[in-house]
Amino acid sequence: MSETRIRTDILLIGGGAAGLSLALRLADNHSIALISKGKLQDGSSFYAQGGIAAVIDENDSIESHIDDTLNAGAGLCDEKVVSFTVERGKQNIDWLIERGVPFTRQVADHPQSGFHLTREGGHSQRRIIHAADATGRAMTTTLANQAKAHPNIQIFEQHNAVDLISAAKFGYSENRCLGAYVLDRDSDSVKVFLANQTVLATGGASKVYLYTSNPDTSTGDGIAMAWRAGCRVANMEFNQFHPTCLFHPQAKAFLLTEALRGEGAILKLPDGSPFMKKFDERAELAPRDIVARAIDHEMKRLGSEHVLLDISHKSSKFIRTHFPTVYNRCLEFGFDITRQAIPVVPAAHYTCGGVMTDLNGCTDLPGLYAIGEVAFTGLHGANRMASNSLLECLVFAESASQHISSQHEDYLLNAKIPDWDESRVTDSDEEVVVTHNWHELRQFMWDYVGIVRTNKRMQRAQSRVNLLLHEIDEYYGNFKVSSDLLELRNLTVAASLIIKSALLRKESRGLHYTLDFPELDTSHVPQNTILTPPRHQLESIEFASGA
Ligand code: FAD
Ligand code: SIN
Repeated sequence: MSETRIRTDILLIGGGAAGLSLALRLADNHSIALISKGKLQDGSSFYAQGGIAAVIDENDSIESHIDDTLNAGAGLCDEKVVSFTVERGKQNIDWLIERGVPFTRQVADHPQSGFHLTREGGHSQRRIIHAADATGRAMTTTLANQAKAHPNIQIFEQHNAVDLISAAKFGYSENRCLGAYVLDRDSDSVKVFLANQTVLATGGASKVYLYTSNPDTSTGDGIAMAWRAGCRVANMEFNQFHPTCLFHPQAKAFLLTEALRGEGAILKLPDGSPFMKKFDERAELAPRDIVARAIDHEMKRLGSEHVLLDISHKSSKFIRTHFPTVYNRCLEFGFDITRQAIPVVPAAHYTCGGVMTDLNGCTDLPGLYAIGEVAFTGLHGANRMASNSLLECLVFAESASQHISSQHEDYLLNAKIPDWDESRVTDSDEEVVVTHNWHELRQFMWDYVGIVRTNKRMQRAQSRVNLLLHEIDEYYGNFKVSSDLLELRNLTVAASLIIKSALLRKESRGLHYTLDFPELDTSHVPQNTILTPPRHQLESIEFASGA
């Protein structure tokens, strides 16, 4: 029997770029429990292709990276946060290099040559360091191996955080996060993880949409848990759609990295004519919101199921060396990218909003941090620039590690936290409720709250999501928790926050485009959409049925 009560200095929820780098930065001086709901590699970080943006080339500058980020963010980036992040880019890349991440060199396999830098949308310079087109795999494999070997890091795979443990819930006058209840999927039991500091590194919520480039783990769990524990969330209306995912029924929206366009790939209509210049002078290298909307527009205008992406004018050797993952994967589906244009469509890719934090990753709840895609730091504004997200994971893992290291009090000494109470729940008799609602939610989010929105569509989505919230709450209160139920519950909360935020924004800005307010509102200073959990919600949070 494995332990059911685990006590640790730091509970880290999530084992992607953010979670792993934070674990390694803290492990020499702290005990760490790192949980991930599947295998460690089952998160977006593992699948990252293009690379990490940072000022490395001597002809590049911090100012230029800042300007490009602000431009992509359409007036909503927090300039202080942008400078903070960009200035720490190089030192974080150096940290990865010291840890042995095998970034691609300018001259293949020549350790003396500099690193190859590629380009992506919105960047005015080549500044994306990468490991061919599988940067995420190279980085997470290196970091995960080191985390597994570290004596102070205990890794719990197949463990789903259910909800955060906040002291107020158990009658303590000072509220604070003291860990989380966690479902062990193998033993089907809920354990208590008690920690002085808890970190959400749970990634984004793109699974809320029917078509997404993300793996199954991106169900907004961290955002929903923090919301239920009383934390504010911001800018949830800004969902990024990646312009180019492979269009094929079995490809599960496999991503075709933006670096393809950075190296010259051209977007074409089904008849072979290029079209991006009509929409933006930067053409294929305009920021993602513009490219995705242009593709959506052309597909709707022509009634076409896809457009085409063509890099076949480059040499076959160049393509196979720079893009081996994309080349091989497309070949499996019968497309040879060295010889033909390939069908592509946009798909949900990145959650720009999230749990509000400061520069140290601290949330509204003392003892709770949020880093990586789950967080809203103010870096991305209304549209994240390509490859700034892994950068954010690394920089905020570094600053959170410094803040956590400065905390010395033991809050667990007198904490009396009960076990998970399952005495009033039974096994589910109707799993179909979960699968049905899962499909319904993702379909209406795609149809009504996608790349182009209207008030009417969003209101339709809102009335449906309200019904689902009610139905799932009732179901959750009566039946034993399962991984699917937990994910559906969280995804529904994330969807409701997206819809609420989208309805509040009475303009089109960055990734949020609505036909009812198609223009940028220039009459006011741009504002973030900040949602605060209602007070009564905190008082009525249920841990199982009445723990
Ligand atoms: P993730 O890597 O998603 O990790 C989340 C972790 O949390 C996982 O371990 C998951 O199991 C765990 N988790 C979630 N919920 C729970 C729970 N309830 N209990 C326990 N564990 C939980 N960005 C770039 O900057 N450059 C790129 O080239 C790039 N390419 C991309 C390509 C693809 C295909 C995708 C999908 C994204 C890409 N992005 C890229 C975005 C970037 O990869 C992500 O934003 C980033 O990896 C997020 O890292 P993270 O650590 O915050 O979350
Ligand atoms: C890509 O490689 O196109 C993804 C880059 C990103 O999402 O930052």
